Amino acid sequence: MKKDFLTLYGMQKSEFDEIMNRSERLKLFNKKGIEHLSLKGRSLGMIFDKSSTRTRISFEVGMHQMGGLAIFLSRRDIQLGRGETVRDTARVISRYLDCVMIRTFGQDIVDEFAEYASIPVINGLTDLLHPCQIAADLFTIKEKKGSCEGITVAYIGDGNNMANSWINAATVLPFRLALACPEGYDPDKAILDRGIKEAKAEVTLFRTPEEAVRNADVIYTDVWASMGQESEQEDRAKIFRHFQVNEKLLQHAKRDAIIMHCLPAHRGEEITADVIDGPRSVVIDEAENRLHVQKAIIEILLEGGI
Ligand code: CP
Ligand code: NVA
Repeated sequence: MKKDFLTLYGMQKSEFDEIMNRSERLKLFNKKGIEHLSLKGRSLGMIFDKSSTRTRISFEVGMHQMGGLAIFLSRRDIQLGRGETVRDTARVISRYLDCVMIRTFGQDIVDEFAEYASIPVINGLTDLLHPCQIAADLFTIKEKKGSCEGITVAYIGDGNNMANSWINAATVLPFRLALACPEGYDPDKAILDRGIKEAKAEVTLFRTPEEAVRNADVIYTDVWASMGQESEQEDRAKIFRHFQVNEKLLQHAKRDAIIMHCLPAHRGEEITADVIDGPRSVVIDEAENRLHVQKAIIEILLEGGI
């Protein structure tokens, strides 16, 4: 049966370790300039309903580096944008491609796509989840801290797709997750409840960022208004103003805590420029790792794994 990469929830730890190990190897090949053409003749379709810098480039370049082809498919340019059904699109493109990545709004669209596609489907971000980002984030943490296990990650800000995916990851790996979200902007309730119950270590939701960053090894934040929420930007800026990652907040954290952000960032909103551009920030390495980790994910999926 074909495998998809739609969410981290339900993944076995051994499967996750395989992604991490393979990412490490692929990164090494990349750094040493060793050719690795494992996907010669294979093709990835990339359907985008939302903007992207990192996801598009890292998938496209990743396929190229492995000897394969990536095809950028904006919804505007394919018949999906003119009302062709997800079901027909999924069935038809399965006859041309070996794998497809989708970035869209509803998780239901990705799920439906996966149901009808006979090729592996990768979730490249929905309103609910962003599993590729978290896989790259965990790889980055492993690089910087030696392991993702036993550490504490503080997530500060909106209970959005990033927060939800962090919670899912905490049901796979034993790290503590301390979230701080303003009331009314919690992560998805079902995901949070399940995460608290099924956490390998601990998932806790706080109402102040100071509580969440205490003892954190990683401080993570994301935009206050995600793609599709642009009209709420002004209101959210007021509601989230006490949830900014700034120097003052870092005084409550461990001295060696690293700063992460999935990017794009809004300096002066969810994070200050001195923090995101400061010595503790690993955001550019984190962005680079999207490339290596997604190459690993595609390779494993095309071998029938995950
Ligand atoms: N972090 C991330 O997914 O970035 P893009 O929106 O640029 O792809
Ligand atoms: N929460 C952000 C993540 C962007 C990578 C968004 O959905 O816009």
